[in-house]
Amino acid sequence: MPSTVQSPPSTATLDAATDPVGDVPRDWPGLWLQMLRARDGAPSPQLSHSPEFGWSVDDVIGVRASALFDLYKPLLDARARQRRPREHTPWVVAQLGQSLDGFVATLTGDSYYVNGAHCLLHLHRLRALCDAVVVGAGTVATDNPQLTTRRVPGPQPVRVVMDPEARLDGLSRVFRDGQAPTLWVCDSRHAAQARSRLGPVPVHAEVLAVDDLLGKDGTAGYHPQRAVSALATRGLHLLFVEGGGITVSRFFTAGALDRLHLVVAPVLIGNGRRGLQATAHAVMADCPRPKVRTLALGPDMLWDLDLRSS
Ligand SMILES: NC(=O)c1ccc[n+]([C@@H]2O[C@H](COP(=O)([O-])OP(=O)(O)OC[C@H]3O[C@@H](n4cnc5c(N)ncnc54)[C@H](OP(=O)(O)O)[C@@H]3O)[C@@H](O)[C@H]2O)c1
Repeated sequence: MPSTVQSPPSTATLDAATDPVGDVPRDWPGLWLQMLRARDGAPSPQLSHSPEFGWSVDDVIGVRASALFDLYKPLLDARARQRRPREHTPWVVAQLGQSLDGFVATLTGDSYYVNGAHCLLHLHRLRALCDAVVVGAGTVATDNPQLTTRRVPGPQPVRVVMDPEARLDGLSRVFRDGQAPTLWVCDSRHAAQARSRLGPVPVHAEVLAVDDLLGKDGTAGYHPQRAVSALATRGLHLLFVEGGGITVSRFFTAGALDRLHLVVAPVLIGNGRRGLQATAHAVMADCPRPKVRTLALGPDMLWDLDLRSS
């Protein structure tokens, strides 16, 4: 596995076929291509960067394109900071698409679909802007996802599966389809088991063994920061934790997230797989209130939480 992402870029275009929502603003596709240039540090005719304010748009653009640019600007700014010498500090964004009553899937694990088509495009954009897309073993076992950027133009991130105890069977699509490099992240004590399940000829998949990823007794949760550090040694500094609820909650509780996108859909699941589970507080005054902003994504409402603001 190379230390930086070498996968072929997605050839998707924002045309009618890949824009099922039909209301992507006219000026967005061109701006998105410029943002992909900015992602890679290439000069852009439409965007400029200053160390103080980060990336900004020089052209006159519509309100909607401007709001979308603002949504993704923190990722571009983080990458620009990481490009400076000796400033490779990892930066992590996570998302959860949830119901009004706080679930990311039904009790049977069905999550197709909690959110609408706008949100799918949003997920693929986040993937394209990041070095790696990270999911929990439960999501791989339940959804068998591809985790590609097939809905938008942009590079494929490395796919990362968090499975400290190597409970997966190694047969899921991410380990076998070769669409992008894949890392199966396990505690070192379980790495041999994972490797044996991949077999002798893995397709673009590799086990990343992390020392003491699990607690001392081997079972008490895991340490997301150790995974983040291990991924940084592979050149993966900008991470997108896509789900599910348990994995995002673990990263959140460990203080490993810089930003969290909660996309609330107007649906009631009743009971199901929990979304964000934060630390409980006895009094309201102790409950964190991060800086937030909202953006409508079709019928869904995206809450963009700046977790470094308080
Ligand atoms: N709406 C959204 O935004 C969204 C996004 C992603 C996924 N999802 C849905 O979320 C659900 C999965 O999320 P989650 O919070 O339950 O888990 P998750 O965060 O994806 O993965 C972590 C959990 O999976 C368990 N796990 C490990 N190996 C497993 C296996 N082979 N089979 C089943 N579970 C295993 C882990 O147990 P240990 O801790 O014991 O290892 C841990 O509890 C799915 O229904 C998926 O469709 C929704």
